[in-house]
Amino acid sequence: MKILVINGPNLNFLGIREKTVYGTKNYDYLLNLLEEKAKADGIDIEVFQSNCEGEIIDRIQKAYLEEADGIVINPGAYTHYSYAIRDALASITVPIVEVHISNVHKREEFRHTSVTAPVCTGQIVGLGLPGYILAIDAIQGIIKEQNGEH
Ligand code: DQA
Repeated sequence: MKILVINGPNLNFLGIREKTVYGTKNYDYLLNLLEEKAKADGIDIEVFQSNCEGEIIDRIQKAYLEEADGIVINPGAYTHYSYAIRDALASITVPIVEVHISNVHKREEFRHTSVTAPVCTGQIVGLGLPGYILAIDAIQGIIKEQNGEH
């Protein structure tokens, strides 16, 4: 099983940016967490981060061509206004889980809207970095169910 994790702008600045919002753990900590998860579950997890909208769209399209089994995406601020990322996600039929480290609903009003969530299978919000692990578990659960393994 191949799951792609996509992180959008500024997520590489974890541990540096707004620590009271996103915590003190840095991006390498997240990468390590995901590597351990891949080992524990015996699956392939690839992590991609970009600060550029077009690169994120290219990676989503590549995931389709590579036949990834699922996508976890934290589009960062693009969540709130990127119709282009939304359209790219809409062209993929595999399970997609949107993750937000912070509880966007407790924050500024512009963060309450996600233009990407309606084309995702589900969303995990406000549970910190463990939200990524929950998203990977959710994707594996959905795929097992689709394969009649539950
Ligand atoms: C975020 C929330 C967004 O509003 C913000 O722009 C981010 C991170 C989160 O993970 O909580 O960059 O997606």
